[in-house]
Amino acid sequence: MANAELDLDPTVLGARFPPGFAWGFAASAYQIEGAAAEDGRGRSIWDTFSRVPGAIADGQTGDVACDHYHRFRDDVALMAGIGAKAYRFSVAWPRVLPDGTGAVNERGLDFYDGLVDALLAAGIEPLVNLFHWDLPQVLQDRGGFANAEVVDWFADYASHVAARLGDRVGDWMTLNEPAVFAFLGHADGIHAPGLRDWPTAMRVADNELRGHAAAAAVIRARVKDARIGIAFDVNRVGPATDSDRDRRAAAQWSSARDAWFLDPLFGRGYPQLGLEAHRAAGHLDGVELADPPGGDLDYLGLNYYRRDSVRALSDAPFDWEIGARPGSEQTQMGWEIAPDGLRDGLVELHREYAPPEMVVTENGAAYPDDVDPDGRVRDERRLAYLARHVEAAADALEAGVPLRGYDAWSLLDNYEWSLGYTRRFGLVHVNFATQRRTRKDSADWYGRLIAATG
Ligand code: FCB
Repeated sequence: MANAELDLDPTVLGARFPPGFAWGFAASAYQIEGAAAEDGRGRSIWDTFSRVPGAIADGQTGDVACDHYHRFRDDVALMAGIGAKAYRFSVAWPRVLPDGTGAVNERGLDFYDGLVDALLAAGIEPLVNLFHWDLPQVLQDRGGFANAEVVDWFADYASHVAARLGDRVGDWMTLNEPAVFAFLGHADGIHAPGLRDWPTAMRVADNELRGHAAAAAVIRARVKDARIGIAFDVNRVGPATDSDRDRRAAAQWSSARDAWFLDPLFGRGYPQLGLEAHRAAGHLDGVELADPPGGDLDYLGLNYYRRDSVRALSDAPFDWEIGARPGSEQTQMGWEIAPDGLRDGLVELHREYAPPEMVVTENGAAYPDDVDPDGRVRDERRLAYLARHVEAAADALEAGVPLRGYDAWSLLDNYEWSLGYTRRFGLVHVNFATQRRTRKDSADWYGRLIAATG
């Protein structure tokens, strides 16, 4: 970081990536599509949860969101205009199977079919993610991901999507951030379905791992040469202080959360330290755990945003405070900015698990952006955040990590879950009253970076 100017220079940074590096964007169905009741879409747990009084910061739903369902051609053109080579989007399960299982809604599949064609015509590789948290409500009514039957439901859903899109899509992702879905949705209650019960969350986590394996097998059977991945969020975890207690807490948390999924995915079963912590906290009471089958992965997707510090409030596992260090540099989410954590995370994950390939499947920052009177959006803090993280990705690449691509979160400002429309992550500004899209300065910067690659 000797020369701050140089750090932001997209041409210098771009030259550190090989030709063909898959620069792209990531997004998810519920956060952008809208059209919640159109063309036969069934209800999802987010349709339900977003209507729970007090659940969402601004009381808003994803009913309209970015209206991407109707504007996807314009949005693909926007991405192409920036020079994107890849787009990671998710399929809404309730659009494809309104009843969760059984009869397929062809109109739902038609939408993704059209999106894939538009992407390919624009020279953008689609990466299809099957599950970004919008479970059909009817399946939640039967226990959702805590019901072991979900493994078959998920594999069945995967097979329908693979059958329709598999002739044109090579890159598949089963789940987005299974730890967030399991823990925030079922133990902390701040995401759909809004439950607060640790044993349920642990069953959900276990079924997600089994669901990944089952869906991967189905995709392999249906799609020749499919590449299978999963998007897992590993933020930088560290102790809040140098005390033994904080250091032990940080190690327990990363084992009980990150290794809890990664170890089984890479065929090692559940990690000992995490097991002890969850057991001691009563999270496994009444839960029958058997190690899930090893995951089938061609690449590991890493979603990376921040550093989390763990402060132990007592010696009891999970009696912890987790968050940004006071006084640290933070985004509007209150997330501590730590670009080195992306480099170190990539290097360490590769050293520990040796996935054949890695992709940064999400990275980005929320700031309150406005369109200036001259029509520009001067989002220099986002631009700097992206530049520093792209630099960290280049460092990881040069350290030998087989990094294949990077997806910025996100193309558009969108529905940020329980924070509604109060957080803007887009490189393109969305006026939610008019749906007008405006490229921010960060989008122009990203375009120059992509152009300079190779
Ligand atoms: C990730 C989610 C994504 C988005 C970003 C900001 O945890 O996968 O949907 O909300 O955070």
